[in-house]
Amino acid sequence: MSKRHVLGIDIGGSGIKGALVDLKKGEFASDRLRIPTPAESTPQNVAAVVKQIVDHFGKELGDGPVGITIPAVVTHGRTRSAANIDKSWIDAPAEQIFEEVLGRDILLVNDADAAGVAEVLYGAAKGHPGLVIVTTLGTGIGTAIINRGVLVPNSELGHIEIDGADAEPTTAASARDREGLTFEEWAPRLQKYYSRLEFLLWPDLIVVGGGVSKNADKFLPLLKLNTPIVPAKLRNAAGIIGAAWLAQDRLDHPDPLRGADPAAARADGTDAPKRKK
Ligand code: BGC
Repeated sequence: MSKRHVLGIDIGGSGIKGALVDLKKGEFASDRLRIPTPAESTPQNVAAVVKQIVDHFGKELGDGPVGITIPAVVTHGRTRSAANIDKSWIDAPAEQIFEEVLGRDILLVNDADAAGVAEVLYGAAKGHPGLVIVTTLGTGIGTAIINRGVLVPNSELGHIEIDGADAEPTTAASARDREGLTFEEWAPRLQKYYSRLEFLLWPDLIVVGGGVSKNADKFLPLLKLNTPIVPAKLRNAAGIIGAAWLAQDRLDHPDPLRGADPAAARADGTDAPKRKK
Protein backbone atom coordinates (compact mmCIF):
# COMPACT_ATOMS: atom_id res chain seq x y z
CA MET A 1 0.00 0.00 0.00
CA SER A 2 1.21 3.49 -0.78
CA LYS A 3 2.58 5.59 2.03
CA ARG A 4 0.42 8.53 1.01
CA HIS A 5 -2.08 9.91 3.46
CA VAL A 6 -5.78 9.59 2.76
CA LEU A 7 -8.34 12.10 4.00
CA GLY A 8 -11.84 11.19 5.14
CA ILE A 9 -14.53 13.83 5.58
CA ASP A 10 -17.94 13.23 7.13
CA ILE A 11 -20.73 15.68 6.31
CA GLY A 12 -23.41 15.66 9.00
CA GLY A 13 -26.40 17.84 9.82
CA SER A 14 -24.55 19.83 12.50
CA GLY A 15 -20.86 19.33 11.79
CA ILE A 16 -18.42 18.57 8.97
CA LYS A 17 -15.53 16.52 10.30
CA GLY A 18 -12.28 15.44 8.71
CA ALA A 19 -9.15 13.48 9.60
CA LEU A 20 -6.26 11.78 7.89
CA VAL A 21 -6.64 8.01 8.02
CA ASP A 22 -4.16 5.20 8.38
CA LEU A 23 -5.68 2.53 6.14
CA LYS A 24 -3.43 -0.20 7.47
CA LYS A 25 -4.66 0.22 10.99
CA GLY A 26 -8.13 1.59 10.25
CA GLU A 27 -7.65 4.55 12.55
CA PHE A 28 -7.04 8.28 12.46
CA ALA A 29 -3.51 9.38 11.57
CA SER A 30 -4.19 12.97 12.71
CA ASP A 31 -6.47 14.95 14.99
CA ARG A 32 -10.03 15.38 13.83
CA LEU A 33 -11.08 18.83 12.61
CA ARG A 34 -14.75 19.77 13.01
CA ILE A 35 -16.41 22.82 11.47
CA PRO A 36 -20.14 23.53 11.94
CA THR A 37 -22.33 22.74 8.94
CA PRO A 38 -23.54 25.99 7.33
CA ALA A 39 -27.15 26.86 8.24
CA GLU A 40 -28.04 26.87 4.56
CA SER A 41 -26.40 23.57 3.70
CA THR A 42 -26.45 23.77 -0.10
CA PRO A 43 -23.78 21.91 -2.10
CA GLN A 44 -21.83 25.15 -2.73
CA ASN A 45 -21.85 26.23 0.94
CA VAL A 46 -20.90 22.77 2.15
CA ALA A 47 -18.14 22.53 -0.46
CA ALA A 48 -16.64 25.78 0.87
CA VAL A 49 -16.36 24.22 4.37
CA VAL A 50 -14.99 20.99 2.93
CA LYS A 51 -12.32 23.11 1.22
CA GLN A 52 -11.27 24.56 4.59
CA ILE A 53 -10.80 21.01 5.88
CA VAL A 54 -8.86 19.85 2.82
CA ASP A 55 -6.66 22.96 3.02
CA HIS A 56 -6.03 22.34 6.73
CA PHE A 57 -4.62 18.87 5.99
CA GLY A 58 -3.19 19.91 2.61
CA LYS A 59 0.50 19.64 3.46
CA GLU A 60 0.37 16.10 4.80
CA LEU A 61 -2.30 15.01 2.33
CA GLY A 62 -0.35 16.05 -0.77
CA ASP A 63 -2.09 14.50 -3.77
CA GLY A 64 -3.57 11.69 -1.66
CA PRO A 65 -7.19 10.64 -2.16
CA VAL A 66 -10.14 12.33 -0.43
CA GLY A 67 -13.34 10.49 0.47
CA ILE A 68 -16.44 12.40 1.58
CA THR A 69 -19.67 11.10 3.11
CA ILE A 70 -23.11 12.64 2.67
CA PRO A 71 -26.48 11.62 4.18
CA ALA A 72 -28.02 11.00 0.76
CA VAL A 73 -28.17 8.38 -1.96
CA VAL A 74 -25.13 8.77 -4.23
CA THR A 75 -25.01 7.11 -7.62
CA HIS A 76 -21.92 7.65 -9.78
CA GLY A 77 -21.13 10.99 -8.18
CA ARG A 78 -24.64 12.43 -8.13
CA THR A 79 -26.69 12.90 -4.99
CA ARG A 80 -30.18 11.59 -5.60
CA SER A 81 -32.07 12.16 -2.34
CA ALA A 82 -32.11 14.50 0.65
CA ALA A 83 -34.05 13.06 3.58
CA ASN A 84 -32.44 15.21 6.29
CA ILE A 85 -30.41 17.75 4.30
CA ASP A 86 -31.06 20.71 2.01
CA LYS A 87 -33.30 19.70 -0.88
CA SER A 88 -30.90 21.29 -3.37
CA TRP A 89 -28.78 18.10 -3.14
CA ILE A 90 -31.42 16.14 -5.05
CA ASP A 91 -29.98 15.27 -8.47
CA ALA A 92 -26.96 17.54 -7.95
CA PRO A 93 -23.70 16.56 -9.73
CA ALA A 94 -22.21 16.70 -6.25
CA GLU A 95 -18.83 15.08 -6.88
CA GLN A 96 -18.22 17.47 -9.72
CA ILE A 97 -19.24 20.46 -7.57
CA PHE A 98 -16.77 19.42 -4.86
CA GLU A 99 -14.05 18.81 -7.42
CA GLU A 100 -14.51 22.25 -8.98
CA VAL A 101 -14.28 23.95 -5.59
CA LEU A 102 -11.37 21.80 -4.38
CA GLY A 103 -9.47 21.54 -7.65
CA ARG A 104 -8.91 17.80 -7.11
CA ASP A 105 -10.69 14.47 -7.50
CA ILE A 106 -12.80 13.25 -4.61
CA LEU A 107 -15.05 10.29 -3.90
CA LEU A 108 -18.53 10.92 -2.53
CA VAL A 109 -20.39 8.15 -0.71
CA ASN A 110 -23.53 7.69 1.36
CA ASP A 111 -22.68 8.14 5.06
CA ALA A 112 -24.06 4.77 6.21
CA ASP A 113 -22.30 2.94 3.38
CA ALA A 114 -18.98 4.47 4.48
CA ALA A 115 -19.61 3.54 8.12
CA GLY A 116 -20.64 0.03 7.10
CA VAL A 117 -17.51 -0.55 5.07
CA ALA A 118 -15.37 0.63 8.00
CA GLU A 119 -17.15 -1.66 10.48
CA VAL A 120 -16.65 -4.67 8.20
CA LEU A 121 -13.01 -3.88 7.48
CA TYR A 122 -11.86 -2.74 10.90
CA GLY A 123 -14.69 -2.78 13.45
CA ALA A 124 -17.54 -4.84 14.89
CA ALA A 125 -17.93 -7.04 11.81
CA LYS A 126 -14.23 -7.26 10.94
CA GLY A 127 -13.60 -10.07 8.51
CA HIS A 128 -17.19 -11.36 8.71
CA PRO A 129 -17.64 -13.91 5.90
CA GLY A 130 -21.42 -13.55 5.51
CA LEU A 131 -24.22 -11.01 5.01
CA VAL A 132 -23.86 -8.06 7.37
CA ILE A 133 -26.31 -5.18 7.77
CA VAL A 134 -24.92 -2.10 9.45
CA THR A 135 -27.49 0.41 10.69
CA THR A 136 -26.81 3.90 12.04
CA LEU A 137 -29.37 5.32 14.43
CA GLY A 138 -29.15 9.12 14.50
CA THR A 139 -31.20 11.94 13.01
CA GLY A 140 -32.16 9.39 10.39
CA ILE A 141 -31.60 5.67 10.00
CA GLY A 142 -28.76 4.79 7.69
CA THR A 143 -28.13 1.29 6.43
CA ALA A 144 -25.36 -0.58 4.63
CA ILE A 145 -25.59 -4.08 3.19
CA ILE A 146 -22.26 -5.85 2.92
CA ASN A 147 -22.19 -9.39 1.64
CA ARG A 148 -18.95 -11.33 2.00
CA GLY A 149 -17.06 -8.06 2.22
CA VAL A 150 -18.72 -6.43 -0.81
CA LEU A 151 -20.93 -3.37 -0.35
CA VAL A 152 -24.31 -3.16 -2.09
CA PRO A 153 -24.60 0.64 -2.08
CA ASN A 154 -27.53 2.93 -1.25
CA SER A 155 -29.75 0.42 0.49
CA GLU A 156 -31.90 3.11 2.23
CA LEU A 157 -33.56 0.58 4.52
CA GLY A 158 -34.22 3.31 7.07
CA HIS A 159 -37.24 4.15 4.95
CA ILE A 160 -38.89 0.73 4.85
CA GLU A 161 -42.59 0.85 5.54
CA ILE A 162 -43.78 -0.24 8.95
CA ASP A 163 -47.48 -0.03 9.84
CA GLY A 164 -48.04 1.82 6.58
CA ALA A 165 -45.47 4.57 7.14
CA ASP A 166 -41.75 5.33 6.67
CA ALA A 167 -39.98 3.73 9.66
CA GLU A 168 -37.37 6.47 10.08
CA PRO A 169 -39.34 9.34 11.67
CA THR A 170 -40.61 7.16 14.53
CA THR A 171 -37.68 4.78 14.96
CA ALA A 172 -34.49 6.88 14.58
CA ALA A 173 -32.61 7.98 17.70
CA SER A 174 -33.88 11.51 17.02
CA ALA A 175 -37.46 10.27 17.57
CA ARG A 176 -36.45 8.95 20.99
CA ASP A 177 -34.92 12.35 21.87
CA ARG A 178 -37.82 14.34 20.44
CA GLU A 179 -40.44 12.33 22.30
CA GLY A 180 -38.36 11.91 25.47
CA LEU A 181 -38.64 8.10 25.37
CA THR A 182 -36.79 5.84 27.79
CA PHE A 183 -34.84 2.97 26.25
CA GLU A 184 -37.64 0.61 27.37
CA GLU A 185 -40.21 2.78 25.59
CA TRP A 186 -38.11 3.03 22.44
CA ALA A 187 -37.22 -0.68 22.28
CA PRO A 188 -40.60 -1.93 20.88
CA ARG A 189 -40.12 0.34 17.86
CA LEU A 190 -36.62 -1.03 17.33
CA GLN A 191 -37.99 -4.54 17.77
CA LYS A 192 -40.48 -4.01 14.94
CA TYR A 193 -37.85 -2.41 12.76
CA TYR A 194 -35.13 -5.01 13.18
CA SER A 195 -37.62 -7.91 12.96
CA ARG A 196 -38.71 -6.53 9.61
CA LEU A 197 -35.13 -6.18 8.37
CA GLU A 198 -34.47 -9.72 9.50
CA PHE A 199 -37.56 -11.01 7.70
CA LEU A 200 -36.69 -9.19 4.47
CA LEU A 201 -32.95 -9.83 4.24
CA TRP A 202 -31.97 -12.75 6.47
CA PRO A 203 -28.62 -11.30 7.50
CA ASP A 204 -25.94 -13.19 9.42
CA LEU A 205 -25.09 -10.20 11.58
CA ILE A 206 -26.62 -6.80 12.38
CA VAL A 207 -24.38 -3.96 13.60
CA VAL A 208 -25.91 -0.93 15.31
CA GLY A 209 -24.02 2.36 15.03
CA GLY A 210 -24.76 6.06 15.50
CA GLY A 211 -24.15 8.09 18.67
CA VAL A 212 -26.75 6.17 20.66
CA SER A 213 -24.77 2.94 20.17
CA LYS A 214 -22.58 3.97 23.11
CA ASN A 215 -25.65 3.02 25.20
CA ALA A 216 -26.21 -0.22 23.31
CA ASP A 217 -26.22 -2.23 26.55
CA LYS A 218 -29.41 -0.37 27.52
CA PHE A 219 -31.46 -1.35 24.48
CA LEU A 220 -29.91 -4.21 22.48
CA PRO A 221 -30.56 -6.75 25.29
CA LEU A 222 -34.27 -5.79 25.11
CA LEU A 223 -34.54 -7.02 21.49
CA LYS A 224 -35.51 -10.57 20.59
CA LEU A 225 -34.10 -11.44 17.18
CA ASN A 226 -32.82 -14.55 15.46
CA THR A 227 -29.78 -12.69 14.16
CA PRO A 228 -26.86 -11.67 16.36
CA ILE A 229 -27.01 -7.88 16.85
CA VAL A 230 -23.95 -6.01 18.15
CA PRO A 231 -22.92 -2.39 18.70
CA ALA A 232 -20.61 -0.69 16.20
CA LYS A 233 -17.00 -0.35 17.31
CA LEU A 234 -15.71 2.66 15.43
CA ARG A 235 -18.50 4.97 16.56
CA ASN A 236 -18.24 8.43 15.01
CA ALA A 237 -14.90 7.63 13.33
CA ALA A 238 -16.53 5.05 11.04
CA GLY A 239 -17.74 7.46 8.34
CA ILE A 240 -14.37 9.16 8.00
CA ILE A 241 -12.45 5.88 7.94
CA GLY A 242 -14.83 4.22 5.47
CA ALA A 243 -14.82 7.23 3.13
CA ALA A 244 -11.02 7.28 3.14
CA TRP A 245 -10.86 3.56 2.36
CA LEU A 246 -13.38 3.88 -0.46
CA ALA A 247 -11.49 6.84 -1.97
CA GLN A 248 -8.33 4.73 -2.16
CA ASP A 249 -10.36 1.80 -3.46
CA ARG A 250 -11.76 3.85 -6.32
CA LEU A 251 -8.30 4.85 -7.39
CA ASP A 252 -7.52 1.16 -7.56
CA HIS A 253 -10.86 0.23 -9.20
CA PRO A 254 -12.30 3.19 -11.17
CA ASP A 255 -16.10 3.47 -11.61
CA PRO A 256 -16.82 3.27 -15.36
CA LEU A 257 -20.19 5.04 -14.87
CA ARG A 258 -18.76 7.91 -12.88
CA GLY A 259 -20.53 11.19 -13.63
CA ALA A 260 -22.89 9.53 -16.08
CA ASP A 261 -26.36 10.82 -16.63
CA PRO A 262 -28.58 8.77 -14.28
CA ALA A 263 -31.04 7.72 -17.00
CA ALA A 264 -28.29 6.53 -19.30
CA ALA A 265 -26.52 4.82 -16.43
CA ARG A 266 -29.72 3.04 -15.54
CA ALA A 267 -30.36 1.86 -19.05
CA ASP A 268 -26.99 0.44 -20.01
CA GLY A 269 -23.56 1.17 -18.62
CA THR A 270 -21.78 0.55 -21.91
CA ASP A 271 -22.97 3.69 -23.73
CA ALA A 272 -23.21 6.00 -20.73
CA PRO A 273 -21.85 9.46 -21.59
CA LYS A 274 -18.37 10.19 -20.32
CA ARG A 275 -17.98 12.61 -17.47
CA LYS A 276 -17.20 16.17 -18.53
CA LYS A 277 -14.11 17.61 -16.91
C1 BGC B 1 -31.00 9.03 4.45
C2 BGC B 1 -29.82 8.13 4.20
C3 BGC B 1 -28.76 8.33 5.27
C4 BGC B 1 -29.37 8.20 6.66
C5 BGC B 1 -28.36 8.47 7.75
C6 BGC B 1 -31.49 8.84 5.87
O1 BGC B 1 -32.54 9.73 6.12
O2 BGC B 1 -32.06 8.74 3.56
O3 BGC B 1 -29.28 8.37 2.93
O4 BGC B 1 -27.75 7.37 5.10
O5 BGC B 1 -30.43 9.11 6.81
O6 BGC B 1 -27.84 9.76 7.69
